[in-house]
Amino acid sequence: MVTIGLLHTTIRGDEKLILEAAKQRNVKIRLIDVRKEIFNRNSYRTDYNIVLNRCVSTIKGNHATHFFESLDLTVINNSKVSAVCEDKFVTSLALQKAGVPTPEFAMVFNANQAHQAINQLGGFPVVIKPPLGSWGRLLAKINDFDSLEAILEHKDVLGSPHQKSFYIQKYIKKPGRDIRAFVIEGKTICTIYRHSPHWITNTARGGVATNCPISKEISNLSKKASAAVGGGILSMDIFETDSGLQINEINHTTEFKNSEKPTGVSISGAIVDYCLKVAKKI
Ligand SMILES: Nc1ncnc2c1ncn2[C@@H]1O[C@H](COP(=O)(O)OP(=O)(O)O)[C@@H](O)[C@H]1O
Ligand SMILES: [Mg+2]
Repeated sequence: MVTIGLLHTTIRGDEKLILEAAKQRNVKIRLIDVRKEIFNRNSYRTDYNIVLNRCVSTIKGNHATHFFESLDLTVINNSKVSAVCEDKFVTSLALQKAGVPTPEFAMVFNANQAHQAINQLGGFPVVIKPPLGSWGRLLAKINDFDSLEAILEHKDVLGSPHQKSFYIQKYIKKPGRDIRAFVIEGKTICTIYRHSPHWITNTARGGVATNCPISKEISNLSKKASAAVGGGILSMDIFETDSGLQINEINHTTEFKNSEKPTGVSISGAIVDYCLKVAKKI
């Protein structure tokens, strides 16, 4: 019988759905609150076949992932996939290198280079984002040079070291929504539109989720994007542009609780099924 070790910090609605899906499948879950663990290889004992990382904290989740991998346990998603997806710049590099359509971007470390990079990207507006970030936090749409200067000075003076790497992306005009695809092993299992009158459409920021039919274009693009970052359980933000779909970013510990109802797809069930499938192959 397979037991899944579930790495977590706060138990969100998403983890509750995973627990419920496991119960329905008679799969045992060992809850591992990483905040209460002592990750010491000399004393640590495990009694599970596979590990699922559901930590809200990216940094704690990363350290725990490395620890379990050092014990030769398979962690979903593995540390290589996490390292690419947790950082928007690294994700964009992987996508561009693999020829997956993605908005143009650049990375710079000061205001002078930022201005030149923006010219290379075709001018204002652009979006500057923390490379490591989520829930639409600290995104800045920059319409002109004055606001560029002000935002970058604030980041330089007040920000943490992470905030001083300026990831700049071309601003993409969206039709009041973007697309979020849930992708497991390269297969798109369901898709939502996230509608918002604001240019930031995250459901964590009030975006409203409705079902989006899975088109051939979405499933082909998601498959390529998944391969570019190493596969596993992913969710992808997709923009609809005049020249076709583009992948904005890829999440490796995705939240999905608001998407099961509109799509009618048990994302939690698919996550547990995938863990079982991988565990049985080990
Ligand atoms: N370059 C962009 N052009 C237009 N809208 C954007 C752009 N980048 C982000 N957004 C909007 O902001 C949201 C959050 O940005 P995202 O890169 O996904 O960061 P997060 O990790 O915080 O979700 C996106 O879903 C989208 O609605
Ligand atoms: Mg996003």
